[in-house]
Amino acid sequence: MLSIAVLGSGKGSNFQSILDAIQSGQLNARVVCVLSDAPDAYILQRARDHGIPAEYVDPAPFKTKLDGEAERRTIERLEHYGAQVLVLAGFMRMVKSGLLRAYAGRIINIHPALLPAFPGLASWKQALDYGAKVAGCTVHFVDEGMDTGPIILQRTVPVLDDDTPESLHARIQEQELIAYPLALQWISEGRTTIQNRRVLIRESSAQKVAPDLSGQRVLITAGPTVEDIDPIRFLSNRSSGKMGAALAVAAARRGAQVVLVHGPLKIPVPQQPGIEPVPVRSAQEMYEAVMTRVAGVQMAILCAAVADFTPVVQADRKLKKETDDLACLQLKRTPDILASVGALEKKPFLVGFAAETDSVERNAREKLQRKHCDLLCANDVSEPGSGFDQETNRITIYRKDGQSIPLPLLPKSVAADRILDEALAGIKA
Ligand code: PMT
Repeated sequence: MLSIAVLGSGKGSNFQSILDAIQSGQLNARVVCVLSDAPDAYILQRARDHGIPAEYVDPAPFKTKLDGEAERRTIERLEHYGAQVLVLAGFMRMVKSGLLRAYAGRIINIHPALLPAFPGLASWKQALDYGAKVAGCTVHFVDEGMDTGPIILQRTVPVLDDDTPESLHARIQEQELIAYPLALQWISEGRTTIQNRRVLIRESSAQKVAPDLSGQRVLITAGPTVEDIDPIRFLSNRSSGKMGAALAVAAARRGAQVVLVHGPLKIPVPQQPGIEPVPVRSAQEMYEAVMTRVAGVQMAILCAAVADFTPVVQADRKLKKETDDLACLQLKRTPDILASVGALEKKPFLVGFAAETDSVERNAREKLQRKHCDLLCANDVSEPGSGFDQETNRITIYRKDGQSIPLPLLPKSVAADRILDEALAGIKA
């Protein structure tokens, strides 16, 4: 298990993401100490709240770097706690040669830009002012330069026309919370090697997953449906398709033959062996695509956000705003796909989803029963970082036997594997 020391100057939100990843089992490491150059930095309090040794290291005499006595003291504390790797989390000083020598190739930093573009401070603002179309974050090894070390991992976000520095920074921070634990996990598995400037990542033994879904046919629905009102207007929802796509990728990686019935997605449809994408638009089309493909399927995971209502009439010409047709839109119920699969005599192992904003548990248990699911994955979509169009999700899996499995906030790819684990266990039971 990797022993990590964290060095930070501020709140320590990246430190928190590392703790969360350790707690959820995503990162096989332990934080042995947190050091800070600021005596009242919240990162120290955060560490103490988790029972982790936290110490202030007096950085005098320099304002912008850690040097001389401060550096010697830092090395002494790191060695005292047995730190194998030093992780910088919002550390506002340059690390100098003594520490770099003592922890050569073992100091890691995250920077809120796609390096080598925009090193230094407020890099999200630099990206915006420059007119970049893509921004992101970079996890890198630290060398003697400012944000110049070999790059381990980068994650991107689009720069939107109406972005402010704050909105762009917030989107980049979402990616940081995913990138840092992931890069550290690669390091903890000993998978990184530096060749010249390039950091090569070996395939992990975990990636060579046991093909435990081999021979299984899995049907997955993903994304929103779109209910056309006329050629211009439609009714839809905020689903991006990320959760459903993550399930399809995870199932295919584990050897399943996946049929992915999806509405219009905000992300590229996964194109890889083992996944057969079936694009649809409306709830009715999704219903037909599912019901004609469900025979012979061992597992169905219905993750799509299906419209509950559709216009009674779809105009083939643009409706005029003066007409009553638009002022009073008549809607009718769409077919309930999950309930229809649940009602089949020969139904597959059935996993439903529930997107809730309140009374999550009550609604989830009610849907589990009413729609004859074997498992129901409930997400509180009002929680920040969870649900629609997020990279992460907090899901509680409800089982038919009344048990529930609360998962922590996880990247959707990790949550997908947990759901598949649970479904597979249910099939075998
Ligand atoms: O796509 P992302 O941006 O990654 O977001 C993921 C998600 C939030 C969409 C996903 O995690 C999720 O919660 N999906 C279910 C959304 C939903 O429609 O929930 P619901 O509570 O309205 O529906 C309950 C279940 O019935 C779902 O399995 C749904 O697919 C199914 N349903 C609903 C209506 C309908 N007409 N037919 C259905 O099959």
